[in-house]
Amino acid sequence: MKIGVIGGGQLGRMLALAGTPLGQQFAFLDPAPDACAQALGEHIRADYSDQDHLRQLAEEVDLVTFEFESVPAETVAFLSQFVPVYPNAESLRIARDRWFEKSMFQDLGIPTPDFSDIQSQADLDTAVKRIGLPAVMKTRTLGYDGKGQKVLRQPDDVAGAFAELGSVPCILEGFVPFTGEVSLIAVRARDGETRFYPLVHNNHENGILKLSIASTAHPLQAQAESYVSKVLDKLDYVGVMAFEFFEVDGGLKANEIAPRVHNSGHWTIEGSECSQFENHLRAIAGLPLGSTATLGEAAMLNFIGEVPEASKVTAIEQCHLHHYGKAFKAGRKVGHATLRCADMTTLKGRIAEVEALIKG
Ligand SMILES: Nc1ncnc2c1ncn2[C@@H]1O[C@H](COP(=O)(O)OP(=O)(O)O)[C@@H](O)[C@H]1O
Ligand SMILES: [Mg+2]
Repeated sequence: MKIGVIGGGQLGRMLALAGTPLGQQFAFLDPAPDACAQALGEHIRADYSDQDHLRQLAEEVDLVTFEFESVPAETVAFLSQFVPVYPNAESLRIARDRWFEKSMFQDLGIPTPDFSDIQSQADLDTAVKRIGLPAVMKTRTLGYDGKGQKVLRQPDDVAGAFAELGSVPCILEGFVPFTGEVSLIAVRARDGETRFYPLVHNNHENGILKLSIASTAHPLQAQAESYVSKVLDKLDYVGVMAFEFFEVDGGLKANEIAPRVHNSGHWTIEGSECSQFENHLRAIAGLPLGSTATLGEAAMLNFIGEVPEASKVTAIEQCHLHHYGKAFKAGRKVGHATLRCADMTTLKGRIAEVEALIKG
């Protein structure tokens, strides 16, 4: 089976690393000449709206999937005429727009921060009166790694904020005084069977994920699973979905969903029986899902800007290096390390060893 992937970054690369042993082949459509997934498959170098090349991709592959959600809706609609696309167009339509996403949470009775649609500075002024400060303003589409958002703390921050974010449709959200951030990675098969990985604790720095620690027996696991199931079933979703939550007042508030494999699930490569990447491919290819059972205590640390020397990373016991083969650039995710240990004390010690390398 040949799978077309829209986007040829590290997520596409890790999908191909998981799918190759299953006998799958890959073609990546990505405009970047140095798209790092091309080491693992064919690279169709074209714009996401280039219909000739989308047609070429559709003719070559058995089905299409995505490694990012900001794909234009027309791209999905165009491809869907020729080839099955997973997850479906509706899932992408909702997940790429924060207003649709949060409205869906509300409709399904899933707690989420207070929010308002912002189409102008006047809308923002009205919304601030209702929601109060501090609040977080985010562009409805195209935001990632904390980009396209601004925390409004005092009235001065509100003046001119609509123009500062580019005068594009935004949402305003109440600021959540969370005690932690967790994500749930789920996979849903074509027949509706759904499996979940354990909740993951995530630590961000400047809006970018730094450290994820998989949690064993988290008290909110069942609650998270029930919220995520509602969304998956509503969208008739096929594939892996990541669902980010804030932990607040002993409960969960939904932040956002990603209709794809997710950075906070990278630890599953070594930490689980079957990784998020393999399970995404199994789901979209119509294969039975793999076990999401964990193989120990696991954590993932991102390498942002540069990857430490391989000899140093691999010198740490129970540490696995993933180098994405991308050019080093400040603020860019260029690799990660996974740790898998028998107990939490050892894991914490190993995390400190990797952190010491990152700090130099
Ligand atoms: N309403 C909020 N209240 C408090 N912190 C927030 C809120 N929204 C986002 N954040 C912080 O900013 C980070 C990035 O925001 P998020 O909406 O997840 O965007 P991205 O698409 O960039 O991941 C979150 O992980 C969280 O740390
Ligand atoms: Mg996020």
